[in-house]
Amino acid sequence: MNAVTRFIALASAAPLLAGCAGAQSMFSPMAAEADRVVLLFRVMLIGSCVIGALVAYCLWLACRGAEDRRRMFGKESVVFRLGLLLPVMVLTLLLLWSLRLLGRAGQDTEPDLVVRLQGEQWWWRVTYVRADGSEVESANELRLPVDADVLLELSSADVLHSFWIPAWAGKVDMVPGHTNHLRLRLAEPGIVRGQCAEYCGGAHALMRLYGVAMDPNEFTQWLARESGPAVATTQTQGREIFVASGCGGCHRVRGEVAPGRVGPDLTHLGSRLSVGAGLLPGGVAALETWLARHPVLKPENHMPAFAFLTDTERRALALYLASLQ
Ligand code: CUA
Repeated sequence: MNAVTRFIALASAAPLLAGCAGAQSMFSPMAAEADRVVLLFRVMLIGSCVIGALVAYCLWLACRGAEDRRRMFGKESVVFRLGLLLPVMVLTLLLLWSLRLLGRAGQDTEPDLVVRLQGEQWWWRVTYVRADGSEVESANELRLPVDADVLLELSSADVLHSFWIPAWAGKVDMVPGHTNHLRLRLAEPGIVRGQCAEYCGGAHALMRLYGVAMDPNEFTQWLARESGPAVATTQTQGREIFVASGCGGCHRVRGEVAPGRVGPDLTHLGSRLSVGAGLLPGGVAALETWLARHPVLKPENHMPAFAFLTDTERRALALYLASLQ
């Protein structure tokens, strides 16, 4: 291999290696569930490399080997054993082991926390079920305490979606009219990213979410605040535009005149990490950008364009939304 070919090979491998770590990678596991996925991947990768090398060696022997070797590989019994029996045995063992490894460990015990996640085109409805049975609704961000047994109840409001935060666990489908379960126990605090992993229509690739693993005390405080109504806002002009534009027909802001349930709950939108389901970072500027350009930034999303708003009105509306802490 000359220097140029070597450089091209290395350069083309670099992006692949860069994808192996980070906030949305199964190679940076933060829970036992994700550790098991990584183990399964490694065993399968190494196993398939070994089997691939063996097949290549046998092929070489059958084509270029000594006369007796070639004759041996021509026998029907050898083809039957190596070509049928061996793959069936290897795949059966792998299947049994993977079922055991990724099985329903801990499914029978009482969880510390239940969270319902519903996939919607193209965002995530997140409902925390508190110990007293009361519910707290949020969106596009899943906050969980570390060192707690969490039960996620996953479903869909419309079409097939798939919940996937690679650093936490493997994919679980979200099926309309059916609830799938995922048990999680997060090991360390941190912010990671997830993505819908099942094609669900136009904006599928832009259906993202943040996963936030928190210290248990911090989580309790956060949930207590999240369960309350929106704080009284000083952004009265933006609030008036919100009401007059009919935003409350689809969005709910608890404590305000906004009962809508079609779109994401906006009660504490200002304290979320992102706008548009992981599309833009949180904050006034991002909210302004979203309000101005969301049909272009996230094509096919179900929110009307609100093109009649002037720049000043849009700014005021963004300031109001950001004040919903
Ligand atoms: Cu939801 Cu893809």
